[in-house]
Parts: sequence; structure tokens; C-alpha cells
Amino acid sequence: MRFSDSFLDQIRARVSVSSVVGSAVQWDRRKTNAGRGDYWACCPFHHEKTPSFHADDAQGRYYCFGCKASGDIFRFLTEKHGLPFPEAVEQLASQAGLAMPQVSPEEEQRQEKRASLYEINEMAAEFFGRQLQLPSGSAARCYLADRNMSASMQSRFGIGYAPADRFALKSFLAEKNIRTEAMIEAGLVIGGEDIAVPYDRFRDRIMFPIRDIRGRAIAFGGRALRADVPAKYLNSPETPIFSKSQVLYNLNQARKSIHQNAMIIAVEGYMDVIALARAGFDNAVAPLGTALTEQQLHLMWRQAPEPILCFDGDSAGIKAAFRAMDMALAHLKPGYSLRFALLPEGMDPDDIVTNNGPQALQDILDKTLSLSELLWRRALEENDRSTPERRARFEVMLEEATGRIGDDKVRMFYKTEMRQRQRQLWQQGRTVSRKYSANRPYRKNRGRQYDRNWDNRQPPSRELMAQARTGNNPGSFIHREKLIILAFVNHPELLDQLDETLSDLVLHSRELDRLRREILNIASLGEPLEKEDLKSHLLEKGFTRTIDEMNEQARKLNSWFFQPDAAPDDALTGLQHMLALHHKSITLERELKEAERNLAESPTEENFYRLNEIREMLSSTQGEEASIEGFGEASGRTSLQGG
Ligand code: UTP
Ligand code: MN
Repeated sequence: MRFSDSFLDQIRARVSVSSVVGSAVQWDRRKTNAGRGDYWACCPFHHEKTPSFHADDAQGRYYCFGCKASGDIFRFLTEKHGLPFPEAVEQLASQAGLAMPQVSPEEEQRQEKRASLYEINEMAAEFFGRQLQLPSGSAARCYLADRNMSASMQSRFGIGYAPADRFALKSFLAEKNIRTEAMIEAGLVIGGEDIAVPYDRFRDRIMFPIRDIRGRAIAFGGRALRADVPAKYLNSPETPIFSKSQVLYNLNQARKSIHQNAMIIAVEGYMDVIALARAGFDNAVAPLGTALTEQQLHLMWRQAPEPILCFDGDSAGIKAAFRAMDMALAHLKPGYSLRFALLPEGMDPDDIVTNNGPQALQDILDKTLSLSELLWRRALEENDRSTPERRARFEVMLEEATGRIGDDKVRMFYKTEMRQRQRQLWQQGRTVSRKYSANRPYRKNRGRQYDRNWDNRQPPSRELMAQARTGNNPGSFIHREKLIILAFVNHPELLDQLDETLSDLVLHSRELDRLRREILNIASLGEPLEKEDLKSHLLEKGFTRTIDEMNEQARKLNSWFFQPDAAPDDALTGLQHMLALHHKSITLERELKEAERNLAESPTEENFYRLNEIREMLSSTQGEEASIEGFGEASGRTSLQGG
């Protein structure tokens, strides 16, 4: 009788290797560390004087560094005590307090049948493989060559060809004494009550054997050679040994690389898995044409804690990623999640490798998004947030999504994170949502927009970033600085109140800064300054041209309150406004630089909005400036910004 793996695992979990081996050896007290499950003894399989036999309870295995004997508890009883395997199982099961599984004759029969289904699939895989090399397989070989699949990749993935003939495989298997019913049960032959002569399911197709985690052939995917064939791929139906929701294509071969790299990549299709292997990524798997299932998620988590989903850069791929995210939410647990690699629009992994090479794929894999980031981005994309109601719905949607997280701790951290992100978002202010709705009318359906906007390597922000920068107009600083200094030149009495302000003033223009210091110099001489005194001093010092330019500008801008003949109160009020604006702009300018740096470092949507917001505030300070200067109309603004 065959014991199920899970039954044997249950026994292994309950009976330690040290307790089983311990009855046959004397543990070495000095070397053994029972607390860590580390046991040492002289080897029971060969003669020795110093202990080189090691038992590890955590792994449930023993190993002798001398004679290389190794195994688990079952192996120990069969090898050391010579028990037949079923008796070893029986003995250890009773030690574990587990009842032996009852095996009915039907069950035994079922197990036999399963065994033969594996064999039939294996025979079919060999058959298809041979057919690919025959003259009749030449069109298929050409097709594979066109798809850049080398002979070594073909053999690594066991690629084959199902001939166009309706009975090719059936006749082959019949010669091997396989009953037609078994072929039908294996899903390789189509039969039934209304079908007089059962015939091959796969005809004139490239064949991809699907293997379970132990490498046994359990099913096939068959790809049509031409685009005009109704189904591009045909897969084996569900059989006693194949359930497509439980299997990941290529997991058996990928395992080694997955463990070496602590990384597993899920792509959408067979061809993508093979393209990744061609580029040197051996750790790729694929679901079998369905959305990623819960079982497949758990299967991946058993291999690595944060599988990367690398789905096609089209709307179907993004939808698939969202579905996987929604499915995964309920199952998230501490340390276990998904990451998302976003491909450029219209590309699948196969295209990237073929067109841009392995490094391009590596670059994409280096920039994956966490699940929480993707969740946030989707909420942003799906919700316009320009009214309180829409903002509320945005919040409800996020709450609903995080509420589906099953694990208490993970859910709590998600809620905290989403609340923090929202707080930041609302703080960024109304200007942003106004901007958002103006630029992007509310769209309910998601679609291609994601492809463009979410391409990691080509962030949307690039062109928008350039746009955002244009709001930062250094010319307007200089205009304002000229007016501020001019106010002091034409109204030296302002220094009585504002000399400290002048000495702290930060100016962009070096020439104006020189002038500023000169004014402070003269003022520090202590004598009360008359208008003409100051001016003649400054003219002496060579500022004639600068002062003329400033006066000319004030005249042009109609800033009459800075002209020499303006009333002192008007000059003071005007200057104070100017200074307040100047201070605000300087601060915003500093923030703008920081936001630009942040956006360059991480091109997230938040950072983009932040930059845009600052840009808007900067340009609105220019607007205010215009209004206090008494020329709110368009022509005036144009001259301010453009001159
Ligand atoms: P794709 O259409 O992306 O196929 O479907 P692919 O693997 O990239 O192959 P090429 O490059 O077009 O030749 C992804 C997966 O969906 C399943 C298959 O498992 C396929 O690998 N599928 C697709 C089907 O089961 N049936 C279909 O008709 C199409
Ligand atoms: Mn594809």
C-alpha cells in the first residue's frame, strides 16, 4: 500500500528523529545541544571512536559525516533495524498516536489508476517530443525557431508536437496496451456516449507538458501554430491527477533557483516562463490560464515569502494583477505578501526579453511595488477626490479593502498605513484635487490608462514633471527683488522700521544684493538719511544703471507706490506686501526643490501631487503680487511673468 505524503508528514511532525535514533546510539554529551535539536553520536552504521553522526530535530533528518548515511525516521528503521517500510510506518504511527489510514479496496484501485495516469501522460510526453523531431514536425520546429526557442530550451521544457492526425496518439498508446477508457480519463483522448470513435484531443499543436512539483507529467498545454485556429491554447481537462487551480507551470524545475534567489516570479503564460528562462531567470512559474488561485498563492508562499507577479502590460494583465491582489488580501499573514512588477504598455515578459534583453527585465524586477502601494494606487486611480462625497467614497473603498485582510496584525498595520497616507493626501490640500479633476475627468472604468501611467520605467510624471517645473519662474523673483530694493532707495525712511528686514533679506540677484549691502552700509553711518543723500551715494558707488532699470521697471509695472513721489504710508504698505510674498516664495522655492528631488528619487503619485501643489502655490503668489500692484488684468500679468 502507498501512504499519503501528508500522513507521513504528520508522523514526522510528531516523532523526533533524535528519539528514534536515540534507542540505537549513545548521544555525546559534550557535542550535543538538545535545546537546539542538535544531537551527536558515534555512527550506528559504521565503526568509529569519535562522533561524526549528527541528528537534527528541526529538519527531522540524520547524517553521518563519516560514512554519509542519511535519512529520516522511516529510513532509520528500515536501514538500521531492517523493518519493511509499511511496518516502520505502523510502528512510528502508533508512537505518534495516529491511527493507520483505512484503505478500502476501492481506494487501492484508485491509487493504482492514478499511478497509471501518470504513466500514460509520461508516455504521451515522450511521444510528442519524438514527433517534433520527425519530418512532419518541421512546421512546428520553424514556429519554435521564430519564437526564439532554442533546442536546449525545447528539451529543458520537454516541448513536443501533436501531429495533425486524429488518431496518432491513440494508436501509439493502444500499441502499448493502454485501454481507451484510460486515455480518455487521462484527458488525452476525447470520447463519450455520443462519440462513435474516440479521437486525440491535441492535434497539430505545440505541446507543453505540465508537471507536478515532483516532476511527474500530469497534463498538457497545446498551442496552435496559426492564429486562425479557434483556441490559441488547449489544455488537458481536469482529471484525477490534474486540477489546474492547484498547479503552477514549471514549479518543479524552478524550485532550485527559487531557493537560491529567495524569489519566485509568476508570469501569465507558458511562453513567458520559457522566455524568462532564456534570459537566465529560472525561477518563473505560471498559473494555467486562470486567475491566480488561493492554492497557487499558498504554493508560492511555501517557496518564498514575497512572490513577484509579473503580468502583461495590457489592461488584461493589470486586471489580473488586481484580482490577485484582491484574492491575496484575505490570506496575508505576517511576513507574507505579493509584489508587483509593472511592464511597459503592450509588452509581455517574452517581448521584453526578446526586444530589450535580460537587463531590461532585471530593471523591472528591481522596481516592484508592494501590495500596499498597489492598493493605494488603485484607490487613487479609481476615485476622483474633488468633492467631500467622493473623498468619503475613496476612504470607504480603502477601508473595505483593508477590512478584508484576515490576519489581525497585518490588517491593523494596513489600516494605519492607509490612514497615514490619507492624512498626507488631505494635507496636500484642495488645490491638488481641483487640479486632479481638471486634468483627469472622473472615469469609472479602468482601462488602458494604467498602462501608460503606471509604467515604472517611464513614469507619467516625466512630462508632467516638466510641466510642473514651468510654474517656477525665476524671472518673477528678480522683478520682485528689484521693487523691494527700489522701495528702500526711493524711501530711505522705511529703514527706520525695516532695517533688520533688509539685513536679513535673501536675494537671488547678486547685483541687487550688492546694492542691498551698500544701503545697509550707508544706513549704519548713523546719520538720518535724506532721499537725495542716499541716492547720490549709490550713484557714486556705480549703481546708476541698476537704479535706472529699477525705476523703469516700477513705471512699466505701474508700481506707483515705490516711485519717489509716493506717500510714505503707501510705500510702507506696498513694501510689506512685497516682503511677505517674497518670503513665501523663497520658502516655496525651497520646498519645490525638495519635492523635485523626492519625485526624481521615487516617482510616486504622492510625490507628483506634492510637486504640483507647490507649483500651484508658487504661481498663485505671483497672482497675488499682480493684484496688490493694482493690475489684475491679463496684460499686466503677462508683462510680469514674461518680462
Ligand atoms: P497568453 O495568451 O498570454 O499566452 O496566455 P502566452 O503563454 O504568452 O503565449 P504566446 O506568447 O501568446 O504564444 C497566457 C496563458 O493563458 C492560458 C495559457 O496557459 C497561456 O500560457 N491560455 C491562453 C489558455 O489556456 N487558453 C487560451 O486560449 C489562451
Ligand atoms: Mn502572453
